[in-house]
Amino acid sequence: MAALEFDEQAARHVERTYATPDVVAQRAQVLALLAPQPGERVLDIGSGPGYLAVSLADAVGPTGTVCGLDVSEAMNTIARSRCASRAWIHIDDGDAANLPYPDASFDAAVSTQVYEYVPDMPRALAELRRVLRPGGRALILDTDWDSAVWHVADRELHERVIAAWEEHLVHPHLPSTLAGLLRRAGFTVPEERVVVLFNPRLHSETFSANIMELIAEFVVGRRGLTAKDAQAWLDDLRARADEGDYLFSLNRYVFLATVT
Ligand SMILES: C[S@@+](CC[C@H](N)C(=O)[O-])C[C@H]1O[C@@H](n2cnc3c(N)ncnc32)[C@H](O)[C@@H]1O
Repeated sequence: MAALEFDEQAARHVERTYATPDVVAQRAQVLALLAPQPGERVLDIGSGPGYLAVSLADAVGPTGTVCGLDVSEAMNTIARSRCASRAWIHIDDGDAANLPYPDASFDAAVSTQVYEYVPDMPRALAELRRVLRPGGRALILDTDWDSAVWHVADRELHERVIAAWEEHLVHPHLPSTLAGLLRRAGFTVPEERVVVLFNPRLHSETFSANIMELIAEFVVGRRGLTAKDAQAWLDDLRARADEGDYLFSLNRYVFLATVT
C-alpha cells in the first residue's frame, strides 16, 4: 500500500508537529553539527514546511544562499510563505533523486526525515554527492520506528498499529544501512549520532501527542485495523497519561558525511 502522501492536510499536520519543542530541539542539534557559515550555499532536500530553511538562512546570511527542494506542492506553498521575508531562500519543486542543480553548486546539504521516503537511495545519494563541491558536507537524519518505546496496556494492538504505521515509509529501517550507502556513494562518514525525542508526559505540545493522531488516521484499513481499533489505541495511550505513567521515546539517527 502507498506511503504517506504529503497533501495539504498531511502538510499542515507535519507543520504543527514540527513546531513542537521536541523537534525545535532536534533542529538545533542538526544546525550545530552542520555548522552553516556566513556566505555558504546550502541545500535542504525535502524542506517540508521550511523551518530548517529559515534557520539555515539566518546562519548563512544574505551573502549566502539556501535552496529548499520538495516534491510536495502543499509543503512548498507553506515553505514559500514561511521563507518570504528572506530573499536568499529559494523553495524549488523537485525530487531528491533528480536534483535540478548543477554539479558542485553547494557547500553543504541537509536532509531530515526525507530519504526514508525515497525509493532509489543509491541514485539519490549519487545526486547529493554530485551537487556538493569537493570537501562539501551533508547531514542526514532519519528515524527507525523499531526504536520507539511507547507505554500501552494492549501490546498486541500496539504492535499491529506500529507495523501498519511503518507502511508510511518506503525504507522504515534506513538508518541501519545509511552509513554503508553513503560510503558506497563516495562519502566519508566522520560522525554518527542519535537524537532522542523523549516525552515522559503527554501534553499537546509534545511530538508524540501530535504524531499519535497522524498514526491513528493512517493505519485505518491497513493490517486489518478499523477506525474503532485506531480509537482504542489512542484511548489506551491517553489512559496511561491519565493514570500518570505515560512514556514515549524515539530515536532519530544522524549522519554527517563529507565529499573527499
Ligand atoms: C516528514 S517531512 C520532513 C520535512 C523537513 N525535512 C523537516 O524535517 O522539517 C518529509 C518531507 O519529505 C518530502 N519528500 C518525500 N519524498 C521526497 C522526494 N523524493 N524528493 C523530495 N522531497 C521528498 C515530503 O514531501 C515532505 O515534505
